Amino acid sequence: MNIGILGTGFMGKQLARKLAAVGHNVKAANSRGPDSVPAEALEIGAHAATAEDAVRDVEVVILAMPHPGFEKIRYLIAALPEQTVVIDISNYFPGRDPVSPELEAGKAESEWTRDYFGRPVTKA
Ligand SMILES: NC(=O)c1ccc[n+]([C@@H]2O[C@H](COP(=O)([O-])OP(=O)(O)OC[C@H]3O[C@@H](n4cnc5c(N)ncnc54)[C@H](OP(=O)(O)O)[C@@H]3O)[C@@H](O)[C@H]2O)c1
Repeated sequence: MNIGILGTGFMGKQLARKLAAVGHNVKAANSRGPDSVPAEALEIGAHAATAEDAVRDVEVVILAMPHPGFEKIRYLIAALPEQTVVIDISNYFPGRDPVSPELEAGKAESEWTRDYFGRPVTKA
């Protein structure tokens, strides 16, 4: 499959490695551009990309960043074709992430993410 990963920190770089290792075509992006994607994320076969390129012509997009990063990529996710599967691996951590009144009131993170992006999102 063609897979785009947004976020190449602790989680994203491991996903890039594991998914490339089993034969997927993986593009990986962070917030600072392809030159700053860590070599560890790429050494199995994933390709560094901009966020725009990472989500282009892929079947799956994986969001591997904390919530504050969502704002910059919201337009990219909203513009994806309906059939693209979006998987969000983030966790809401008050203290690290800005306080979310909705999540604090008990809204499920899966529902919050779906509503934020305005499309179905799979939580993993
Ligand atoms: N589901 C699970 O099992 C699981 C396990 C552990 C963690 N998590 C959650 O997964 C999320 C990521 O954790 P982590 O430890 O991997 O975080 P991390 O090490 O801080 O990495 C975050 C990554 O997101 C990138 N990023 C931020 N904003 C971006 C944007 N607008 N566009 C593209 N990339 C962007 C950062 O790029 P720059 O460095 O260039 O800014 C960085 O590569 C967190 O919410 C964490 O709680 C989930």
